Order: sequence, then structure tokens, then C-alpha cells
Amino acid sequence: NYPKQVKIVEVGARDGLQNESAVSTADKVTLIDALANAGLKHIEAGAFVSPKWVPQMADSAEVIQGITRHPGIEISALTPNLKGAELALENQVDEFAIFTAASEAFTQKNINCSIEQSIERFRPVVELAQKNNIKVRGYVSCIAGCPYQGKVEPEQVLSVCKQLLALGCYEISLGDTIGVGTANQIENLLTLLLEHIPAQRLAVHFHDTYGQALANIHKALEMGISTIDSAVAGLGGCPYAKGASGNVATEDVIYLLQGLGISTEIDLERLAKAGWQICDALNKAPVSKVSLALKNT
Ligand code: HMG
Ligand code: MG
Repeated sequence: NYPKQVKIVEVGARDGLQNESAVSTADKVTLIDALANAGLKHIEAGAFVSPKWVPQMADSAEVIQGITRHPGIEISALTPNLKGAELALENQVDEFAIFTAASEAFTQKNINCSIEQSIERFRPVVELAQKNNIKVRGYVSCIAGCPYQGKVEPEQVLSVCKQLLALGCYEISLGDTIGVGTANQIENLLTLLLEHIPAQRLAVHFHDTYGQALANIHKALEMGISTIDSAVAGLGGCPYAKGASGNVATEDVIYLLQGLGISTEIDLERLAKAGWQICDALNKAPVSKVSLALKNT
């Protein structure tokens, strides 16, 4: 009983590149334009975070000003506080993304406050968004484990999700930041969350550190989740989660979905090309197995 259609949120240009130093603004613009041409409709293009914390995202305004905007393609950006939200608004971002975690330790390291303080900090962000008819997505990191405190209880994930929904988020993205979750753990977590939250309001955001992302996505699809975050070429990682590797590769997710007969309207070949292009700029090969396989056929 898979969903008939799946929404892909492409996070390569943000999550993928926030860990890469020395990517030019022009290369980021080329990447995002290529992703749009491949058919991606939801593209996270940057982060209006402190440049002292994540210098890699300091050119987000220039990137967003440089890309070609198309009707029907939503551009989103991270907005950790009012300052970030104001910058995102100035740069005509279609969707804000606020982010906190189910782990106190990670929240401190990543955004320098407690979970409770983060929620308070997001209030004016959501108010600004609502005044301007901008949708707000909420991220919860460390849903399956934390690089600093280890175990994270599903009840804690639920509590943070509920707080973000109460604030006004239309969707919550569940981040396995360090990619430690396995299918049975994800099943247990989603079983609890789905008792309280409709499936349409949940997205999954799996990093592939332990190679479990596709298995976890398959489990989530079986449970009715129809929004998947992924990064072209499997780029990614979080600078405040040591050892966290890339997001699940968009190419691999599209291949899985095609095999399951789920429509995505994404051109896999163009997508793979976009991945090779940014990887050439990074002087490495894509992590996507599908991309590597296509290259050899
Ligand atoms: P802080 O140091 O506590 O904040 O940082 P502050 O308000 O004291 O500001 C410090 C300085 O930053 C000031 O500059 C501010 O003006 C400036 P100064 O006066 O010293 O010159 N500043 C800003 N500049 C530009 N844009 C802003 C902004 N805010 C403050 N928005 C803060 C708190 C939240 C700002 C900081 O901790 C931060 O930026 N953190 C972001 C960390 C980050 O981006 N992490 C990666 C993204 S999350 C992730 O990857 C996980 C995810 O993928 C899901 C998953 O995988 O789990 C989403
Ligand atoms: Mg992430």
C-alpha cells in the first residue's frame, strides 16, 4: 500500500554543500538550475544561518538571486531565527525551514540553545512567515540517535514534532542526522508518531552513514509517508554532527520509486548529470550507486 505520488525535497544544495568548503556561488547556481531542469519541484537552496557558524552557506542570498525561478518550483531555505527569516523574505524564498532536535545536546551544539528556547526563537519566524503567506517546514534532528547523547526516546521526538506543529509548521521532516536508524527502529518511531500526526504532515530525512537509508525509506513508504528528503549524488553531512555522511542520494530514491511504480516526474538522467556536474566541481565521484551504474551503461 504505497503512496501513489511522492514529494521529493531536494536538499543537496543546502545539506549537501554546507559541509563542503570552496564551492563557488556560480557552481551552486548551476546545480540548482540543473535540479529544476531535472524536474525537482521542492529545492532547499541555502541557509540564512550565522556565517560564523556555517561559512559555507554565507552566499545563500547571492545563490538565490542567481538562480532561474520557475512557477511551480518552490525554493526553501533554513531560517534559524528572525534575522534569518528576514533575509529569506528579502530574497523571495517560498518556504522557510526552522530546525531543532529531539536531543538537548545536539540542539546546543547546532543552534546554541535548548530545545525549549529554540521553539521560542521560532515564534517570530513563523509570525513573519504567516504575515507573508510563506509556508514553514520544521526539522527535528536526531530522531534515531544523537552524536553527543546517544539514545533518543521516540516520546521525545513526538513531543518536539507536536510543538513544531502547534507553532504552525505544515510539515515536519524527521532527521536521522547521523544515519544510525534501522528499519525496525524507524517502524517503531513512525508507529508512535502516526498515532498523533497524519502521514501527510511527516517527511523523512535520512542520512546514509550506515547504509540504511533506502531500507528505512521503504519502511516509511509502506507506512504511508509520502515526502522524502534527499540530496543529489548523496552529498551532505552536518558540520555539528561529526562523522555524519551524506543524505540518501536522490538518484537512488527515484530509482526505488520508479521500481515501485510511484510517480515522481523526475528525469533520472538529467538528475544524474546534475550530480556529476557538482561532483566534478568538488573533485569527487557521486556516492549514488544508481548514478555510478548509469555512468557505466
Ligand atoms: P548565536 O551565536 O547563539 O547567535 O548563534 P547570536 O544571535 O548571538 O549571533 C551571533 C552572530 O551571528 C551575530 O553576529 C549575529 O548577527 C549573527 P555578530 O554580532 O557577532 O557579528 N547572526 C546571523 N547572521 C546571519 N544570519 C543569521 C544570523 N543569526 C545570527 N540568521 C545561531 C545562533 C542559530 C544563529 C547559530 O547557532 C547558527 O547559525 N546555527 C546554524 C547551524 C547550522 O546551520 N547547522 C546545519 C543545519 S541543521 C542540519 O544540517 C540538520 C538537518 O539537515 C536535519 C538533519 O539532518 O537532522 C536540517
Ligand atoms: Mg540533514
